[in-house]
Amino acid sequence: NIKGVLFDLDGVITATARLHDQAWQSIAEKVQAPWTPALQASLKGIDRMHALELILQAAGVAQAYSPAEKQALAAAKNQRYLELVQQLTPTDILPGIRVFLDQLQQHGYQIALASASKNAPTVLHQLGLAAFFPKIVDPNTLTKGKPAPEIYQKAAALLHLAPDQCVGIEDAAAGVAAINASGALSVGIGAAQELAAADVVFASTAELTLPHLQQVFGGGVR
Ligand code: BG6
Ligand code: MG
Repeated sequence: NIKGVLFDLDGVITATARLHDQAWQSIAEKVQAPWTPALQASLKGIDRMHALELILQAAGVAQAYSPAEKQALAAAKNQRYLELVQQLTPTDILPGIRVFLDQLQQHGYQIALASASKNAPTVLHQLGLAAFFPKIVDPNTLTKGKPAPEIYQKAAALLHLAPDQCVGIEDAAAGVAAINASGALSVGIGAAQELAAADVVFASTAELTLPHLQQVFGGGVR
């Protein structure tokens, strides 16, 4: 029986995936990486330093930057991202998410956050959702980021549940891979072809309701 729901943040709870994109684009321009849709998609769900590596590789300059220069680029990206995050308000919660969180609470489901973002507490605070998420995996404790299953295993463990007692929700292919490898059921939010590995894909968070999950996963979800 499903007892817990594990949430990704960026692109699931709020449209910050676009803000990460915007901040990375300025770094891509700085290092002259071609800012293609494929490069953008490959950054989703990936932790900060690995995302930077992907951009440097796309520019063919991964060897040209020292560790200190890479840290400086990552810090510049984060500074830009934090400027953008300051503008977030509860109106930036994606459609249906607030109602879904209420439904989960009312029906006694446990909730945890499995975001790669070190800025997750700040973003949740801006959105007015911090109270729903006392259980957040600290990305600093991870040895491997998404697509490795570790973050979803830890999120389930925070709830004292096994991964197969949980549903995970993700907008990125790397995140869906992480959920699947952990043993939890996976819900993808976005384009079916990008998220084909998910157990079920919803085009939008507006489709994310408890009755809908019950319909899709049957008896596993009360
Ligand atoms: C993920 C985003 O949630 O967090 C990525 O999808 C981002 O785009 C990653 O790079 C790390 O975020 P942060 O805030 O720690 O740089
Ligand atoms: Mg995401």
